[in-house]
Amino acid sequence: MSQIRRIGLLTSGGDCAGLNAVIRAVVQRATYGYGWQVVGIHKGTAGLLTRPLEAQVLDLGQFTGGLLRMAGTVLGTTNKGDPFAYPMPDGSRLDRSQEIIEGFRELELDAVIGIGGDGSLAILRRLAQQGNIPLVGIPKTIDNDLGDTEVAIGHDTAVEVATEALDHLQPTAASHDRVMVLEVMGRDAGHIALSAGIAGGADVILIPEIAYDVEAIARKIDALRRQGRNFALVIVAEAVQTEDGEPVGEVKASGGVNYGGIGHYIGRRIAEATGAETRVTVLGHIQRGGTPTPRDRLMACSFGVHAVDLIAEGRYDRMVAWSGRRVIDVPIADAIRAYHAVEVDGALVRTARGLGISFGDA
Ligand code: F6P
Repeated sequence: MSQIRRIGLLTSGGDCAGLNAVIRAVVQRATYGYGWQVVGIHKGTAGLLTRPLEAQVLDLGQFTGGLLRMAGTVLGTTNKGDPFAYPMPDGSRLDRSQEIIEGFRELELDAVIGIGGDGSLAILRRLAQQGNIPLVGIPKTIDNDLGDTEVAIGHDTAVEVATEALDHLQPTAASHDRVMVLEVMGRDAGHIALSAGIAGGADVILIPEIAYDVEAIARKIDALRRQGRNFALVIVAEAVQTEDGEPVGEVKASGGVNYGGIGHYIGRRIAEATGAETRVTVLGHIQRGGTPTPRDRLMACSFGVHAVDLIAEGRYDRMVAWSGRRVIDVPIADAIRAYHAVEVDGALVRTARGLGISFGDA
């Protein structure tokens, strides 16, 4: 018999569509399936750093039918403030992990479900190990770069938003004889650009996993012109670098880069190389909103139910995952170790090449 009575639930890292659907699924499964209470922790682990703690009991009565359909997260989230090196006002860093563990104890939780990407799950796992907290993870990230799962919550909706952007750009590109460049998110992986590029009829897809040459892009655009096409669609992932190998964006105080702007660089270089009139759209955070697609909702429901069942079975330190048409679970440690970049010889890249789409490399 499970000794569980009360579980915690938090969303951590960048938000995405489908998080609310997971929250709803967890509360429904915990309530209907086991009669447990679910406590929603606000703003990821940040809700356990404040006193009083920022958390609330979630019950079915609070949920309107809208939650399943709503982007964002009603619990709030954060993608800053690693509790093991928390940025303090004087610029120093402080290990505040013990405060979070004490917050967890204060809420009298028997286990926690954390919904996050690789960075958040790594932090939650470290906290769980230090505080001996039973933890189950649910993968979410528009970037789809988590290992050991074919699907992460939010990616499908981001791809839909980016595809729709290409749908909107194509008629105006054709009306004005232009090359339209669309810059999409994805951090260091090109999954969004690749999938949306194929689905949205891009002529050129640039992803960080495949090195490009502006001359090759120009040749593709010239070939399209010779075929009688008066426009071209180019989709570029935010982590693609300049020809000199420089990432484009703002350097973060904590190190690393907040990507943004490679689309303008590519647009300028295409204009110089082809003489084409070029316009650039940077899609940005619009990809994180949007009404969750049916697929994201299905994944959210499957993951939420399975995560609660794992707790009931006493199987912790595991992340729910999707593989071969079913929900499974894997060690969190394996999932965060196995980074999932685009496979350059994979099915989608081969499909794109088969369609005559250029990656700017030939
Ligand atoms: O990881 C999700 C993501 O949306 C990336 O695709 C993007 O680079 C980043 O987060 C943006 O982060 P922020 O919301 O901090 O600007």
